[in-house]
Amino acid sequence: MAWSDILPFMGVAIRCGDLSLTAMTPDDIPGLLAAAGRGIVPDGSGYPFITDWALLPRAEREASSTQFYFSSWAAASPERLELMMVVREGDTIMGAQDLRVADFAVRRTGFTGSWLARDFHGRGIGTRMRQLVCAFAFDELGALEMRTEAYADNPASNRVSQKTGYVEFDRARVNRLGEPAVEVRYRLTADQLTRPAEPITFDGGPALRRYLGVTGGQSAMSRS
Ligand SMILES: CC(C)(COP(=O)(O)OP(=O)(O)OC[C@H]1O[C@@H](n2cnc3c(N)ncnc32)[C@H](O)[C@@H]1OP(=O)(O)O)[C@@H](O)C(=O)NCCC(=O)NCCS
Repeated sequence: MAWSDILPFMGVAIRCGDLSLTAMTPDDIPGLLAAAGRGIVPDGSGYPFITDWALLPRAEREASSTQFYFSSWAAASPERLELMMVVREGDTIMGAQDLRVADFAVRRTGFTGSWLARDFHGRGIGTRMRQLVCAFAFDELGALEMRTEAYADNPASNRVSQKTGYVEFDRARVNRLGEPAVEVRYRLTADQLTRPAEPITFDGGPALRRYLGVTGGQSAMSRS
């Protein structure tokens, strides 16, 4: 039995050339912990996350991340899902990309977050993985809008959003670990998405659509 036979969202896989995004399963946790252990936050960037997980000492970070992954799986439902995906180049785990949805069958809106181990930064991978998850949401799930946000002092993440085609629509003063920070908010529609040059293949889209209760055929939704 595969994990996806039990939890349908665990069958998602998105591939483009050598790059793949596959739904995280418990088997992936050790590889992800090792990737995060190489460091994540680029020099000269503000701290990028909402929680302090990447600042914790190794043992605490690994326990906290693992508990977060299991709590996300435990809380998953058709009404609210955090689809966590492992990013690989070939067999090498480089980081994680998530796709969060709530009441997706009605709202048709997806939210993303991501990280890469530092030694993989600056090679265009962050942009490609965002392009892939957005293409999956639009083409396979029938998303009408994708949203994301980044702190203003995180140039790489803001640049990735801009290169993917997102348009800034709001800025807000928010609380980052007890200190004020500016959050930049972006949205993207299918016609605005900058797609990678190479073809993308998808697995698990129809099963995830059924799980989320999205009605209508894929062809009726695709690139609508
Ligand atoms: C955000 C992240 C995934 C981007 O990954 P990446 O593979 O380095 O991204 P890319 O190489 O595709 O693009 C990065 C862009 O930012 C630009 N950039 C990076 N640092 C910069 C800086 N200090 N000033 C200006 N531009 C910068 C790069 O030049 C590049 O743009 P370009 O192609 O126009 O030159 C990676 O930086 C990361 O993991 N950061 C920590 C976690 C994080 O911030 N996650 C997002 C918030 S949840």
